[in-house]
Amino acid sequence: MTTLPPSFDDRDGYIWYNGKTVDWRDAKIHVLNHGLHYGSCVFEGTRIYNGNIFKLTEHTQRLHDSANMLGFTIPYSVEELNQATIDIAAKNNITDGYIRPVAWRGSEQMAIRTDRSSIHTAICAWEMPKYFGEEALMKGLKLTFAPWKRPSPETEPVHAKAAGLYMICTLSKNKVMDEGFDDALMLDYRGYIAEATGANFFMVMDGELHTPTPDCFLDGITRRTVIELAKKRGINVVERHIQPEELAKASQAFLTGSAAEVTPIGSIECELGNFEFKVGDITRQMMQDYSDLVRS
Ligand SMILES: Cc1ncc(COP(=O)(O)O)c(C=O)c1O
Repeated sequence: MTTLPPSFDDRDGYIWYNGKTVDWRDAKIHVLNHGLHYGSCVFEGTRIYNGNIFKLTEHTQRLHDSANMLGFTIPYSVEELNQATIDIAAKNNITDGYIRPVAWRGSEQMAIRTDRSSIHTAICAWEMPKYFGEEALMKGLKLTFAPWKRPSPETEPVHAKAAGLYMICTLSKNKVMDEGFDDALMLDYRGYIAEATGANFFMVMDGELHTPTPDCFLDGITRRTVIELAKKRGINVVERHIQPEELAKASQAFLTGSAAEVTPIGSIECELGNFEFKVGDITRQMMQDYSDLVRS
């Protein structure tokens, strides 16, 4: 029998909450909260390896940038949040795990208008195993296309890591996992390949890495790291719009993300066919280089 992890509101430990360290179970919000009702909420997903937080400042800066894209300012500087992140990971004895900073509008106004809203910030840290499990690392993920598309930049602040943008990710992930897949690959509003529900997409074609231009979805920190790592290895990286039909010409494919790290894709099943990929040389090299870098 597999034991499920404890609910996230019922754990031992501490959470950094609006400048104070509070007991884990006391980090509460009121039900009449703008973040909850109207999606005024941004967050981050950061990893800590051997006690070092990988690209901490990039993540904290992105939290600030995401908040600005939603029209609010986090009342703590990047430096203050960096220190709070380091402190709360240490206070919880987390040396290898996941960190979740989050910022949201409070309860002053239960309406669309938010001119009097306060801004709240919290940082949580917990131990986390591999996002996709060991089997995926060996064989590759089984993906299919999502029923939802990434929206155009004219319809949403698409570059923010904002809670509201994850509605279609959850709908897609639940649907495809219920059908036996590991994750969904999302097309964008034009029909190009965009990204998975919580990770960016790469494929290998003729010894080069191809990845979608992030013009309507998150340009992941891991994505940018992998591009740098590939270039260091002399691998040509092409950022461009990718049509789903082009999957037929790819020999390898993988996902990247702070949680997903570098995870190979074994197959993508869709109306166009069942595309199969090898966990090949370039994929393995990127998995290794990324793993070495985050622990260096
Ligand atoms: C929708 C989405 N795309 C891409 C990524 C990858 O971003 P990063 O590498 O910065 O974690 C994530 C994870 O944060 C994500 O949730």
